[in-house]
Amino acid sequence: MKKLFVLVLFVMGMSVTFTSCDDAKKTAKDAVETTKDAAKATGDAVKDAAEATGDAVKDVADKAVDAVTGDAEQIKKGKKLALMNGCLACHQEHTKSVGPSYEEVAKGYKEKGGNMTKFLKGNADAIIDPAQFAVMKVNLSITQKMSGDDLAALTTYIRSFE
Ligand code: HEC
Repeated sequence: MKKLFVLVLFVMGMSVTFTSCDDAKKTAKDAVETTKDAAKATGDAVKDAAEATGDAVKDVADKAVDAVTGDAEQIKKGKKLALMNGCLACHQEHTKSVGPSYEEVAKGYKEKGGNMTKFLKGNADAIIDPAQFAVMKVNLSITQKMSGDDLAALTTYIRSFE
């Protein structure tokens, strides 16, 4: 009887030892899982942030490229229009001839804050060389008939000499 009691005590003791050992193992395992989860969450957050930053940088770069190439194409188109419509017969890019150079026109418009589109539509007075406006006036019949797109290209070309 005494022996059995000791055995029962022994078994109980062992099971307590095993259980607490299991608990400790489980706690340690949980801690490892939690750490792993945290690491994964941090990793995901860093990855997301990097992706967001990458996207933002790409957006800015794309816009910059668009701005440069877009302008370059407008300027090319504007120059072609100036050539086709005889503007370059009286206007050189950098030197005064019959009319003021486009550089002089561009700088004057920038300085005075003029609206070149309005002038070319016949809705604003000459601000560069009003005394010679009669020579330029006939050309407004050409520019007045141009589409908004063509006029935008033409003024972008002229203003590129600012
Ligand atoms: C027959 C010559 C002649 C032709 C062709 C000509 N221009 Fe002019 N242009 C002038 C003269 C002269 C002036 C200066 C008078 C003036 O300021 O309006 C002038 C001035 C201008 C100005 C400045 C206007 C201002 O505010 O004073 C612009 C912009 C302009 N021309 C654009 C054009 C465009 C675009 C064309 C082609 C569609 C063109 N010109 C064709 C002679 C010409």
